[in-house]
Amino acid sequence: MNVIVAVDENWGIGKDGDQLIYLREDLKRFKALTMGHPLILGRKTMATFPGGRPLKGRRNLILSRNPDFAPEGGEVYHTMEELLAQAPEDAFVIGGASVYNALIGQCDTAYVTKIQKEFPADCWFPNLDEDPAWQAEEPSEVMEQDGVRYCYVTYHRVTK
Ligand SMILES: NC(=O)c1ccc[n+]([C@@H]2O[C@H](COP(=O)([O-])OP(=O)(O)OC[C@H]3O[C@@H](n4cnc5c(N)ncnc54)[C@H](OP(=O)(O)O)[C@@H]3O)[C@@H](O)[C@H]2O)c1
Repeated sequence: MNVIVAVDENWGIGKDGDQLIYLREDLKRFKALTMGHPLILGRKTMATFPGGRPLKGRRNLILSRNPDFAPEGGEVYHTMEELLAQAPEDAFVIGGASVYNALIGQCDTAYVTKIQKEFPADCWFPNLDEDPAWQAEEPSEVMEQDGVRYCYVTYHRVTK
């Protein structure tokens, strides 16, 4: 499986239930990379999407323990085991923190947007630079939006 995430310099990913920053080019890249592939996400991350709805053009496999949660256009799974039994190999894990932490061990490729700034954060992604199981490709060129610099780094799992 794949994982896609935007992290700050401390591998922070969110604060108060929302993203640290919205980068327009990064959102376009997210769409291009994930279009046509199933997405795996937690219920709180779906709440941050436009209208709080599943993303179009992709299966949305959403985790929630709430038996009454049934968003139109999404597939809800009440346990990780049920979800994994239905998750194809080309799926993208798209957050949030609880889902990333639970599934990073199942992922082989990580598409990381590295934001060259420290934000106040209350949730984090595992630091792949400190994990010998992961090896980074060369970073992309550095881009900038509103004075915030960022680049893309793809990581590959080299050992289980
Ligand atoms: N920077 C990025 O790339 C990025 C990407 C995505 C999200 N984020 C950020 O991450 C934060 C959200 O992360 P989060 O950890 O608080 O929420 P989350 O992972 O998006 O959703 C958590 C919810 O998912 C459900 N869930 C999780 N594990 C489950 C399991 N094993 N079985 C059944 N249901 C399960 C539960 O839903 P119920 O409560 O309904 O039971 C739980 O409350 C936000 O700040 C968001 O902006 C950042």
